[in-house]
Amino acid sequence: MNDYNGYPILTADEAANLIPNGTTIGFSGFSPAGAAKALPPAIARRAKERHAAGEPYQVRVFTGASTGPHFDDALAEANAISFRAPYQSSMALRKQINAQKVEFVDMHLSHVTQHVYEGFYGAIDFAVVEASEVTRDGRAFLTTSIGVSPTYLKKAQKIIFEINRHHNPRLREMADIAYLPSPPHQDSIAIHAPMIKIGWPYASFDPDKVIGIVETDEEDHVSEFSEPTETHMAIARHVVDFVLAELKASPSPNALLPFQSGVGNVANAVMSGLGNSPDLPPFYMYSEVLQDALIDLIESGKILGASTCSLTLTERTLQRIYQNMDFFAPRIVLRPQELSNNPGIVRRLGVITMNTALEFDIYGNVNSTHVCGTRMMNGIGGSGDFTRNAYVSFFTCPSTAKGGKISAVVPMATHIDHSEHSVQIVATEQGLADLRGLGPMQRAEAIINNCAHPDYRPYLREYLKSSEKGHIRHNLKRAFELHCNLLEHGAMLPELV
Ligand code: COA
Repeated sequence: MNDYNGYPILTADEAANLIPNGTTIGFSGFSPAGAAKALPPAIARRAKERHAAGEPYQVRVFTGASTGPHFDDALAEANAISFRAPYQSSMALRKQINAQKVEFVDMHLSHVTQHVYEGFYGAIDFAVVEASEVTRDGRAFLTTSIGVSPTYLKKAQKIIFEINRHHNPRLREMADIAYLPSPPHQDSIAIHAPMIKIGWPYASFDPDKVIGIVETDEEDHVSEFSEPTETHMAIARHVVDFVLAELKASPSPNALLPFQSGVGNVANAVMSGLGNSPDLPPFYMYSEVLQDALIDLIESGKILGASTCSLTLTERTLQRIYQNMDFFAPRIVLRPQELSNNPGIVRRLGVITMNTALEFDIYGNVNSTHVCGTRMMNGIGGSGDFTRNAYVSFFTCPSTAKGGKISAVVPMATHIDHSEHSVQIVATEQGLADLRGLGPMQRAEAIINNCAHPDYRPYLREYLKSSEKGHIRHNLKRAFELHCNLLEHGAMLPELV
């Protein structure tokens, strides 16, 4: 049998055949970056074969965060997943989650490492981890993300590595892998500035647990962003103007605190807007994903350096980094999500956080995950890790969705991921509301006047008038009237359409 550094080389199908029905697998991957490439489609093929033979076959899947289409989509289409955590963004899997065919546990990403390590979800049977190299003495050099891989490797009973030759082995120069001890033995974490490293360039593993190596040569398949729309650019302008005004008024106008930016089209446009503003001084990122827009800004010197958990980059942009590693390696730190999203570090560094809402209510409670309170979109991801501990937390989104049929500003959010206590600034293309220091009625006024679409403002004002007085006003009979209209008539205010 061929071997790699003394470990047996297997085909993906041979490796999948070693994974029994009901197995719990901890996969590498934080977004498509660094996700296992060969095993998920092979497990999907195995599931299809077993199902065709009338036998059950499903696995329980943990990752760092979302994955790519070859992963969650392939497994979901083969009905191969019974349980999934902590985050996903697959259309096929979303359908199964919302049909209650897959149990999905939506988690703060910073929690996953400790919860898995402490055994909250039972044993991890297999770790399937992408690396650019693994050594005979138990060191794994990971690829474009770190995620929870170091912990899956420690906890799993058996390990399969995917050695992906596509990636530049110099990625290890960016890696900063440290393991936090279990409470109460955690000292303060010595990350006192975004670029400080405290760990090693590799994850450790027990060589005796490795049952096979699967060789691949495959890119991460990160999709291109759509061009920012006029709406996205208007949101970005409001945020940039606000940040510039705050900076001007601050005692140290040249010292910007680090930024975090969430996922998606809106977040990408906002970060581009910030980075391209000539009046903004250079800044650092302390974030969990690096998307394409940020690499341009590192190259231009606007971003001085970035701490992240993943390089979620299109192939084109990733190759730019690989061709210029001397420049990029000292400017990017890749950490496990326990550190990239660590609430204590976010609070200490004073991170300015930028995340995206599906809807928010007139008091500033934000729903980022569940459409009409029931249907899961992606998950909370790291947005809670950052928002709750931010120096200033922003939430942005267009004021309407689906051609105006849905208002993003509603009387009461149908699901709350980020409560009014953690949310400080909200912005849509209509404008921005600074909620700091405002009581409930002042918040409602600022949000309706500045952020709601003009078509929905009369309804929201009238809702407030019809509400019971208290510290917060609500009319419980009407709190979800807009959502009920949407479900019944296809629009929140059918008369507008
Ligand atoms: N009701 C129903 N659908 C809505 C909606 C609402 N209130 N608001 C937005 N949508 C739909 C849009 O129509 C769009 O659907 P489409 O793909 O069918 O066109 C989709 O949601 C995405 O909206 P878009 O405006 O393109 O935003 P986005 O790409 O920036 O994604 C979130 C927005 C909220 C879905 C995304 O940011 C997310 O999942 N966030 C939670 C996790 C997170 O923040 N992670 C990062 C932490 S670091």
